[in-house]
Amino acid sequence: MKILNIVGARPNFMKIAPIVEEMNKAPELEHLLVHTGQHYDEGMSDVFFRDLGIPVPNVHLGVGSGSHAEQTARIMVEFEKVCLKEKPDLVNVVGDVNSTMACTIVAAKLLVPVAHVEAGLRSFDRAMPEEINRLVTDALADLLFTTSRDADENLKREGVDAARIHFVGNVMIDTLLKHREKAAAADVMSRFGMKKGGFALVTLHRPSNVDDPEVLKGILEALQEVSRTIPVLFPMHPRTTKRIAEFGLSLDGITTAEPFGYLEFLCLTSNAGIVLTDSGGLQEETTILGIPCLTLRHNTERPVTITHGTNIMVGPDKKRILEAVRRVTNGDWHPAGPPEYWDGRAAQRIVEVIRRFRS
Ligand code: UD1
Repeated sequence: MKILNIVGARPNFMKIAPIVEEMNKAPELEHLLVHTGQHYDEGMSDVFFRDLGIPVPNVHLGVGSGSHAEQTARIMVEFEKVCLKEKPDLVNVVGDVNSTMACTIVAAKLLVPVAHVEAGLRSFDRAMPEEINRLVTDALADLLFTTSRDADENLKREGVDAARIHFVGNVMIDTLLKHREKAAAADVMSRFGMKKGGFALVTLHRPSNVDDPEVLKGILEALQEVSRTIPVLFPMHPRTTKRIAEFGLSLDGITTAEPFGYLEFLCLTSNAGIVLTDSGGLQEETTILGIPCLTLRHNTERPVTITHGTNIMVGPDKKRILEAVRRVTNGDWHPAGPPEYWDGRAAQRIVEVIRRFRS
Protein backbone atom coordinates (compact mmCIF):
# COMPACT_ATOMS: atom_id res chain seq x y z
CA MET A 1 0.00 0.00 0.00
CA LYS A 2 1.48 3.32 -1.09
CA ILE A 3 0.74 6.38 1.00
CA LEU A 4 1.54 10.04 0.44
CA ASN A 5 1.84 11.90 3.75
CA ILE A 6 1.31 15.64 3.32
CA VAL A 7 2.83 18.52 5.30
CA GLY A 8 2.87 22.20 4.49
CA ALA A 9 2.75 24.56 7.43
CA ARG A 10 4.29 24.68 10.90
CA PRO A 11 1.57 22.89 12.89
CA ASN A 12 1.62 19.98 10.42
CA PHE A 13 5.16 18.92 11.26
CA MET A 14 4.53 17.82 14.85
CA LYS A 15 1.41 15.95 13.68
CA ILE A 16 3.09 13.97 10.90
CA ALA A 17 6.23 13.06 12.90
CA PRO A 18 4.72 10.24 15.01
CA ILE A 19 2.70 8.93 12.05
CA VAL A 20 5.79 8.60 9.85
CA GLU A 21 7.60 6.90 12.73
CA GLU A 22 4.74 4.44 13.20
CA MET A 23 4.45 3.76 9.45
CA ASN A 24 8.17 2.91 9.41
CA LYS A 25 7.34 -0.06 11.63
CA ALA A 26 4.83 -1.47 9.10
CA PRO A 27 6.78 -3.06 6.22
CA GLU A 28 3.71 -3.37 4.00
CA LEU A 29 3.25 0.43 3.99
CA GLU A 30 5.31 2.31 1.45
CA HIS A 31 5.10 5.97 2.36
CA LEU A 32 6.46 9.16 0.87
CA LEU A 33 6.54 12.56 2.54
CA VAL A 34 5.33 15.49 0.45
CA HIS A 35 6.09 19.05 1.65
CA THR A 36 4.01 21.66 -0.17
CA GLY A 37 6.32 24.50 0.86
CA GLN A 38 3.46 26.58 2.31
CA HIS A 39 5.93 27.42 5.08
CA TYR A 40 9.53 27.69 3.95
CA ASP A 41 11.61 29.74 6.42
CA GLU A 42 14.24 27.89 8.43
CA GLY A 43 12.40 28.84 11.66
CA MET A 44 8.94 27.94 10.32
CA SER A 45 9.87 24.63 8.73
CA ASP A 46 13.44 23.19 8.67
CA VAL A 47 14.06 23.40 12.42
CA PHE A 48 11.03 21.15 13.04
CA PHE A 49 12.44 18.44 10.80
CA ARG A 50 15.67 18.49 12.79
CA ASP A 51 14.06 18.75 16.24
CA LEU A 52 11.56 15.97 15.56
CA GLY A 53 13.76 13.72 13.43
CA ILE A 54 11.36 13.86 10.48
CA PRO A 55 12.99 12.51 7.30
CA VAL A 56 13.76 14.95 4.50
CA PRO A 57 10.62 15.17 2.29
CA ASN A 58 10.70 12.92 -0.76
CA VAL A 59 8.91 15.59 -2.75
CA HIS A 60 8.96 19.37 -2.21
CA LEU A 61 6.38 21.40 -4.11
CA GLY A 62 7.93 24.76 -3.22
CA VAL A 63 4.67 26.73 -3.49
CA GLY A 64 5.44 29.50 -0.96
CA SER A 65 3.10 32.29 0.16
CA GLY A 66 0.22 33.94 -1.66
CA SER A 67 -3.47 34.76 -1.35
CA HIS A 68 -5.67 31.83 -0.37
CA ALA A 69 -6.69 31.18 -3.96
CA GLU A 70 -3.15 31.51 -5.30
CA GLN A 71 -1.62 29.27 -2.65
CA THR A 72 -4.37 26.64 -2.85
CA ALA A 73 -4.26 26.61 -6.64
CA ARG A 74 -0.47 26.30 -6.78
CA ILE A 75 -0.53 23.38 -4.36
CA MET A 76 -3.27 21.68 -6.40
CA VAL A 77 -1.43 22.07 -9.71
CA GLU A 78 1.83 20.73 -8.30
CA PHE A 79 0.30 17.98 -6.19
CA GLU A 80 -1.78 16.66 -9.07
CA LYS A 81 1.46 15.94 -10.96
CA VAL A 82 2.84 14.05 -7.95
CA CYS A 83 -0.36 12.01 -7.58
CA LEU A 84 -0.38 11.11 -11.26
CA LYS A 85 3.26 10.02 -11.11
CA GLU A 86 3.19 8.16 -7.79
CA LYS A 87 -0.31 6.63 -8.06
CA PRO A 88 -0.84 6.41 -4.29
CA ASP A 89 -3.43 4.15 -2.63
CA LEU A 90 -4.01 6.73 0.10
CA VAL A 91 -3.28 10.41 0.68
CA ASN A 92 -2.90 11.27 4.36
CA VAL A 93 -3.48 14.90 5.37
CA VAL A 94 -3.27 16.48 8.83
CA GLY A 95 -4.77 19.59 10.43
CA ASP A 96 -6.59 22.41 8.71
CA VAL A 97 -4.18 24.51 6.68
CA ASN A 98 -4.46 25.36 2.99
CA SER A 99 -2.16 22.45 2.11
CA THR A 100 -4.55 20.04 3.87
CA MET A 101 -7.54 21.11 1.80
CA ALA A 102 -5.70 21.55 -1.51
CA CYS A 103 -4.21 18.05 -1.49
CA THR A 104 -7.53 16.56 -0.40
CA ILE A 105 -9.37 18.07 -3.36
CA VAL A 106 -6.73 16.81 -5.79
CA ALA A 107 -6.76 13.28 -4.39
CA ALA A 108 -10.56 13.07 -4.24
CA LYS A 109 -10.86 14.10 -7.90
CA LEU A 110 -8.33 11.44 -8.89
CA LEU A 111 -10.39 8.93 -6.87
CA VAL A 112 -7.54 8.39 -4.42
CA PRO A 113 -8.87 7.77 -0.88
CA VAL A 114 -8.01 10.44 1.69
CA ALA A 115 -7.31 10.06 5.41
CA HIS A 116 -7.73 13.20 7.52
CA VAL A 117 -5.98 13.36 10.87
CA GLU A 118 -7.67 15.83 13.22
CA ALA A 119 -11.05 15.61 11.52
CA GLY A 120 -14.30 17.04 12.83
CA LEU A 121 -13.01 20.11 14.67
CA ARG A 122 -15.41 23.03 14.18
CA SER A 123 -15.22 26.62 15.37
CA PHE A 124 -18.54 27.32 13.60
CA ASP A 125 -16.89 30.51 12.36
CA ARG A 126 -16.55 30.64 8.61
CA ALA A 127 -14.60 33.88 8.80
CA MET A 128 -11.74 31.66 9.86
CA PRO A 129 -9.97 30.27 6.78
CA GLU A 130 -9.18 27.02 8.62
CA GLU A 131 -12.92 26.37 9.14
CA ILE A 132 -13.45 26.29 5.36
CA ASN A 133 -10.45 23.97 5.03
CA ARG A 134 -11.88 21.65 7.71
CA LEU A 135 -15.35 21.50 6.14
CA VAL A 136 -14.07 20.76 2.63
CA THR A 137 -11.49 18.22 3.78
CA ASP A 138 -13.93 16.30 5.97
CA ALA A 139 -16.62 16.28 3.28
CA LEU A 140 -14.18 14.51 0.93
CA ALA A 141 -12.16 12.28 3.27
CA ASP A 142 -12.68 8.52 3.46
CA LEU A 143 -11.00 7.98 6.83
CA LEU A 144 -11.67 10.58 9.48
CA PHE A 145 -9.40 10.41 12.52
CA THR A 146 -10.66 12.47 15.45
CA THR A 147 -9.05 13.82 18.62
CA SER A 148 -12.20 14.15 20.73
CA ARG A 149 -15.77 12.86 20.97
CA ASP A 150 -17.26 16.25 20.13
CA ALA A 151 -15.51 16.04 16.74
CA ASP A 152 -17.25 12.69 16.11
CA GLU A 153 -20.58 14.34 16.85
CA ASN A 154 -19.84 17.26 14.50
CA LEU A 155 -19.08 14.84 11.67
CA LYS A 156 -22.17 12.71 12.27
CA ARG A 157 -24.33 15.85 12.30
CA GLU A 158 -22.88 16.72 8.89
CA GLY A 159 -23.93 13.32 7.58
CA VAL A 160 -20.60 11.50 7.68
CA ASP A 161 -21.06 7.73 7.88
CA ALA A 162 -20.07 6.63 11.41
CA ALA A 163 -18.03 3.75 9.93
CA ARG A 164 -15.57 6.29 8.49
CA ILE A 165 -14.97 8.04 11.81
CA HIS A 166 -12.18 6.76 14.05
CA PHE A 167 -11.64 8.34 17.44
CA VAL A 168 -7.91 7.84 17.94
CA GLY A 169 -6.68 10.67 20.19
CA ASN A 170 -4.20 13.43 19.50
CA VAL A 171 -0.99 12.97 17.49
CA MET A 172 0.28 16.38 18.60
CA ILE A 173 0.30 15.02 22.14
CA ASP A 174 2.20 11.90 20.98
CA THR A 175 4.95 14.29 19.90
CA LEU A 176 4.78 16.37 23.06
CA LEU A 177 5.06 13.36 25.37
CA LYS A 178 7.93 11.92 23.37
CA HIS A 179 9.98 15.12 23.39
CA ARG A 180 9.08 16.58 26.76
CA GLU A 181 12.20 15.41 28.55
CA LYS A 182 14.56 16.44 25.77
CA ALA A 183 12.88 19.85 25.59
CA ALA A 184 13.46 20.39 29.31
CA ALA A 185 17.20 20.47 28.59
CA ALA A 186 16.92 23.19 25.92
CA ASP A 187 19.04 26.22 26.70
CA VAL A 188 16.44 28.91 26.11
CA MET A 189 15.12 30.18 29.45
CA SER A 190 18.39 31.73 30.56
CA ARG A 191 19.03 33.20 27.10
CA PHE A 192 15.91 35.31 27.53
CA GLY A 193 16.30 35.82 31.28
CA MET A 194 13.06 33.94 32.07
CA LYS A 195 12.42 32.07 35.33
CA LYS A 196 10.26 28.97 35.78
CA GLY A 197 6.64 29.98 36.34
CA GLY A 198 7.61 33.65 36.26
CA PHE A 199 6.72 34.82 32.75
CA ALA A 200 3.90 35.07 30.25
CA LEU A 201 4.42 33.38 26.88
CA VAL A 202 2.51 34.88 23.96
CA THR A 203 1.79 33.77 20.39
CA LEU A 204 -0.44 35.59 17.91
CA HIS A 205 -0.98 34.98 14.23
CA ARG A 206 -4.70 34.68 13.41
CA PRO A 207 -5.74 37.12 10.69
CA SER A 208 -8.71 38.21 12.89
CA ASN A 209 -6.22 39.38 15.56
CA VAL A 210 -3.24 40.62 13.60
CA ASP A 211 -4.66 41.95 10.33
CA ASP A 212 -6.94 44.52 12.03
CA PRO A 213 -4.90 47.45 13.43
CA GLU A 214 -7.41 48.27 16.20
CA VAL A 215 -7.65 44.68 17.45
CA LEU A 216 -3.88 44.20 17.32
CA LYS A 217 -3.27 47.53 19.09
CA GLY A 218 -5.64 46.54 21.93
CA ILE A 219 -3.91 43.18 22.40
CA LEU A 220 -0.43 44.74 22.39
CA GLU A 221 -1.54 47.37 24.92
CA ALA A 222 -2.84 44.59 27.17
CA LEU A 223 0.50 42.76 26.85
CA GLN A 224 2.41 45.92 27.69
CA GLU A 225 0.26 46.34 30.79
CA VAL A 226 0.92 42.69 31.77
CA SER A 227 4.67 43.24 31.31
CA ARG A 228 4.60 45.75 34.18
CA THR A 229 3.90 42.82 36.53
CA ILE A 230 5.51 39.81 34.84
CA PRO A 231 7.95 39.54 31.93
CA VAL A 232 6.21 38.88 28.61
CA LEU A 233 8.02 36.77 25.99
CA PHE A 234 6.53 37.06 22.50
CA PRO A 235 8.03 34.97 19.67
CA MET A 236 6.55 36.56 16.58
CA HIS A 237 5.07 34.82 13.55
CA PRO A 238 6.25 36.50 10.30
CA ARG A 239 2.68 37.63 9.53
CA THR A 240 2.51 39.39 12.91
CA THR A 241 5.95 40.99 12.57
CA LYS A 242 4.91 42.41 9.20
CA ARG A 243 1.63 43.80 10.52
CA ILE A 244 3.16 45.43 13.60
CA ALA A 245 5.69 47.21 11.38
CA GLU A 246 3.01 48.17 8.84
CA PHE A 247 0.67 49.62 11.51
CA GLY A 248 3.56 51.28 13.41
CA LEU A 249 2.56 49.69 16.74
CA SER A 250 4.69 49.72 19.90
CA LEU A 251 6.18 46.64 21.56
CA ASP A 252 7.84 48.58 24.41
CA GLY A 253 8.25 46.45 27.53
CA ILE A 254 7.68 43.17 25.67
CA THR A 255 10.56 40.77 24.98
CA THR A 256 10.20 39.71 21.36
CA ALA A 257 11.91 36.85 19.56
CA GLU A 258 12.03 35.09 16.22
CA PRO A 259 9.84 31.96 16.01
CA PHE A 260 11.34 29.11 18.07
CA GLY A 261 11.92 25.54 17.01
CA TYR A 262 9.88 22.73 18.56
CA LEU A 263 12.15 21.83 21.48
CA GLU A 264 12.90 25.37 22.59
CA PHE A 265 9.27 26.35 22.35
CA LEU A 266 8.12 23.30 24.30
CA CYS A 267 10.68 24.17 26.97
CA LEU A 268 9.25 27.69 27.19
CA THR A 269 5.64 26.51 27.29
CA SER A 270 6.41 23.96 30.00
CA ASN A 271 8.00 26.67 32.15
CA ALA A 272 5.60 29.56 31.53
CA GLY A 273 3.43 30.93 34.34
CA ILE A 274 0.70 31.69 31.83
CA VAL A 275 0.23 31.38 28.07
CA LEU A 276 -1.73 33.86 25.96
CA THR A 277 -2.40 32.67 22.44
CA ASP A 278 -4.67 32.40 19.44
CA SER A 279 -3.08 29.11 18.32
CA GLY A 280 -5.11 25.90 18.26
CA GLY A 281 -2.21 23.57 19.02
CA LEU A 282 -1.08 25.54 22.03
CA GLN A 283 -4.52 25.20 23.63
CA GLU A 284 -3.95 21.45 23.44
CA GLU A 285 -0.33 21.45 24.58
CA THR A 286 -1.00 23.63 27.65
CA THR A 287 -3.87 21.29 28.53
CA ILE A 288 -1.44 18.40 28.85
CA LEU A 289 1.32 20.46 30.46
CA GLY A 290 -1.08 21.91 33.07
CA ILE A 291 -0.17 25.51 32.22
CA PRO A 292 -3.03 28.05 32.28
CA CYS A 293 -3.89 29.18 28.76
CA LEU A 294 -5.85 32.29 27.82
CA THR A 295 -7.17 32.04 24.29
CA LEU A 296 -7.45 35.42 22.60
CA ARG A 297 -10.31 34.38 20.31
CA HIS A 298 -14.09 34.40 20.45
CA ASN A 299 -14.40 30.67 19.80
CA THR A 300 -12.44 27.45 19.80
CA GLU A 301 -12.72 24.35 17.64
CA ARG A 302 -11.17 22.49 20.57
CA PRO A 303 -13.80 22.71 23.36
CA VAL A 304 -12.25 19.71 25.11
CA THR A 305 -9.36 21.98 26.13
CA ILE A 306 -11.88 23.99 28.15
CA THR A 307 -13.87 21.10 29.63
CA HIS A 308 -10.83 18.86 30.19
CA GLY A 309 -7.98 21.32 30.12
CA THR A 310 -6.54 24.63 31.22
CA ASN A 311 -7.97 26.74 28.43
CA ILE A 312 -9.98 29.88 29.16
CA MET A 313 -11.70 31.68 26.30
CA VAL A 314 -11.00 35.39 26.71
CA GLY A 315 -11.23 37.05 23.29
CA PRO A 316 -9.05 39.90 22.04
CA ASP A 317 -10.53 42.66 24.26
CA LYS A 318 -7.92 44.47 26.37
CA LYS A 319 -10.02 44.74 29.54
CA ARG A 320 -11.01 41.08 29.47
CA ILE A 321 -7.42 39.97 28.85
CA LEU A 322 -6.13 41.96 31.84
CA GLU A 323 -8.94 40.71 34.07
CA ALA A 324 -8.21 37.08 33.12
CA VAL A 325 -4.45 37.49 33.65
CA ARG A 326 -5.14 38.91 37.13
CA ARG A 327 -7.42 35.99 37.97
CA VAL A 328 -4.96 33.37 36.78
CA THR A 329 -1.91 34.92 38.43
CA ASN A 330 -3.94 35.02 41.68
CA GLY A 331 -4.32 31.26 41.35
CA ASP A 332 -7.97 31.36 40.30
CA TRP A 333 -7.90 28.67 37.59
CA HIS A 334 -8.60 24.98 37.59
CA PRO A 335 -6.70 22.33 35.67
CA ALA A 336 -8.60 19.23 34.60
CA GLY A 337 -8.04 16.33 32.30
CA PRO A 338 -6.26 14.89 30.43
CA PRO A 339 -8.74 14.37 27.59
CA GLU A 340 -9.52 10.79 26.63
CA TYR A 341 -6.85 9.10 24.46
CA TRP A 342 -4.37 11.98 24.64
CA ASP A 343 -1.95 9.38 25.80
CA GLY A 344 0.92 9.21 23.30
CA ARG A 345 -0.55 6.36 21.22
CA ALA A 346 -2.72 8.16 18.67
CA ALA A 347 -0.36 7.52 15.74
CA GLN A 348 -0.28 3.82 16.60
CA ARG A 349 -4.11 3.72 16.46
CA ILE A 350 -4.13 5.61 13.16
CA VAL A 351 -1.66 3.26 11.50
CA GLU A 352 -3.63 0.24 12.74
CA VAL A 353 -6.76 1.58 11.01
CA ILE A 354 -4.83 2.41 7.82
CA ARG A 355 -3.37 -1.11 7.68
CA ARG A 356 -6.88 -2.57 7.93
CA PHE A 357 -8.26 -0.12 5.37
CA ARG A 358 -7.07 -2.06 2.34
CA SER A 359 -6.74 -5.58 3.70
C1 UD1 B 1 -0.95 29.21 8.35
C2 UD1 B 1 -2.27 28.46 8.46
C3 UD1 B 1 -2.77 28.50 9.90
C4 UD1 B 1 -1.70 28.01 10.87
C5 UD1 B 1 -0.44 28.82 10.64
C6 UD1 B 1 0.68 28.38 11.56
C7 UD1 B 1 -3.76 28.52 6.53
C8 UD1 B 1 -4.97 29.12 5.95
N1 UD1 B 1 -3.30 29.08 7.63
O1 UD1 B 1 -1.20 30.57 8.63
O2 UD1 B 1 -3.90 27.67 10.03
O3 UD1 B 1 -2.16 28.15 12.18
O4 UD1 B 1 -0.03 28.66 9.28
O5 UD1 B 1 1.79 29.19 11.42
O6 UD1 B 1 -3.25 27.57 5.96
N2 UD1 B 1 5.56 33.67 5.97
C9 UD1 B 1 6.92 33.78 6.03
N3 UD1 B 1 7.66 32.62 6.09
C10 UD1 B 1 7.10 31.39 6.06
C11 UD1 B 1 5.70 31.30 5.99
C12 UD1 B 1 4.96 32.45 5.93
O7 UD1 B 1 7.47 34.87 6.07
O8 UD1 B 1 7.84 30.39 6.11
C13 UD1 B 1 4.75 34.92 5.95
C14 UD1 B 1 4.39 35.34 4.55
O9 UD1 B 1 4.40 36.71 4.52
C15 UD1 B 1 2.96 34.88 4.41
C16 UD1 B 1 2.44 35.02 5.83
O10 UD1 B 1 3.56 34.70 6.67
O11 UD1 B 1 2.26 35.63 3.49
C17 UD1 B 1 1.31 34.08 6.13
O12 UD1 B 1 1.65 32.73 5.81
P1 UD1 B 1 0.48 31.68 5.40
O13 UD1 B 1 1.03 30.33 5.23
O14 UD1 B 1 -0.31 32.26 4.27
O15 UD1 B 1 -0.49 31.72 6.62
P2 UD1 B 1 -0.18 31.67 8.18
O16 UD1 B 1 -0.62 32.96 8.74
O17 UD1 B 1 1.22 31.24 8.44
